[in-house]
Amino acid sequence: MILVTGGAGYIGSHCVLALLAKGFDVVIFDNLETGHIETVETLKKEGNVQFVKGDLKNLKDINSVFDDFQIDAVVHFAALSLVGESVKEPQKYYYNNVYGSLNLLNAMLEHNVKKIVFSSTAATYGEPEYIPIDEKHPQNPINPYGNSKLMVEKIMDDYSKAYDLRSVRLRYFNVAGADSKARAGEWHDPETHLIPNVLKSTFSGGKTFEMYGDDYPTKDGTCVRDYINIEDLAQAHILALEYLNNGGETNYFNLGTKNGDTVKEVFSACEKVTEKTIPVNIMPRRAGDPASLVADNSKAKEILGWNPKHTLEESIKTAYLWENRFIN
Ligand SMILES: NC(=O)c1ccc[n+]([C@@H]2O[C@H](COP(=O)([O-])OP(=O)(O)OC[C@H]3O[C@@H](n4cnc5c(N)ncnc54)[C@H](O)[C@@H]3O)[C@@H](O)[C@H]2O)c1
Repeated sequence: MILVTGGAGYIGSHCVLALLAKGFDVVIFDNLETGHIETVETLKKEGNVQFVKGDLKNLKDINSVFDDFQIDAVVHFAALSLVGESVKEPQKYYYNNVYGSLNLLNAMLEHNVKKIVFSSTAATYGEPEYIPIDEKHPQNPINPYGNSKLMVEKIMDDYSKAYDLRSVRLRYFNVAGADSKARAGEWHDPETHLIPNVLKSTFSGGKTFEMYGDDYPTKDGTCVRDYINIEDLAQAHILALEYLNNGGETNYFNLGTKNGDTVKEVFSACEKVTEKTIPVNIMPRRAGDPASLVADNSKAKEILGWNPKHTLEESIKTAYLWENRFIN
């Protein structure tokens, strides 16, 4: 069985769907702090999914999962991931993301489980020194969230060397879209991501969309980001598991498309998909937003055989399908 921590959340739930489609049995471990029991119920209809409500901050909770189930490998999504909140409450972030991950790794060692795929982030790179960002780019996070993820990456490196606990760290850029059958989608509260927020502005009673900064040194003045489709992202986790199962060494990969889209381009694509004129206010820049973040994804393509297929427009279409299903 595969243990998926954070499987009730946005990315974890899509990864569970991909695992089930590949015939894996899954145990979801989640404290439901930002995840949803409704998502777990949907996933249970799709295959052999067990759910354990528990918190990684409690070693006992996570140890009991390894006692109760025969776990072959772990895919670890569970984390808090709001950058702004992490600046205001670093204690919460280090406790949850670092201490929680340490408990997980120690429970794995205790039970002789030696393979893990970990959700890392482009935020571990900090302010880009060059674009596109490859895996050799220095990692200098500029907020506690990014620091917490980098700390876990370093712990994983040390555990790999000392205990042969092999890990694949996947550094996501901007994850976008929803399951193409609308079984799962992005469901954050508060929602801080661009596409769901633009789409929410199309609904009656929705807020005017606020665009932060149109004076960046980019082609239209708005920030450039690399939007990677959620189903393509989920596939990379399957490939990472296969890589570990085939004896692959501890490794780390960027997951992005190598294409940057500006906020204005995403906004226009949302208007095209929804066939609506979306109300927008141009606001001043937000602190801490780099002008451009784009991934060099060659390493994942070469070593994992990953081949992201979906376009930005497809991600927006599925996200819109999900938002419609959720709100109406
Ligand atoms: N969404 C993105 O664009 C993005 C980008 C880069 C990295 N990531 C990383 O991907 C992972 C998943 O992100 P997401 O957007 O799906 O977030 P999410 O909030 O939707 O999912 C996280 C899940 O983890 C659970 N969780 C958190 N702390 C826990 C704990 N201590 N014990 C048990 N369960 C716990 C939550 O209840 C939730 O179900 C995170 O690690 C995040 O840092 C996300």
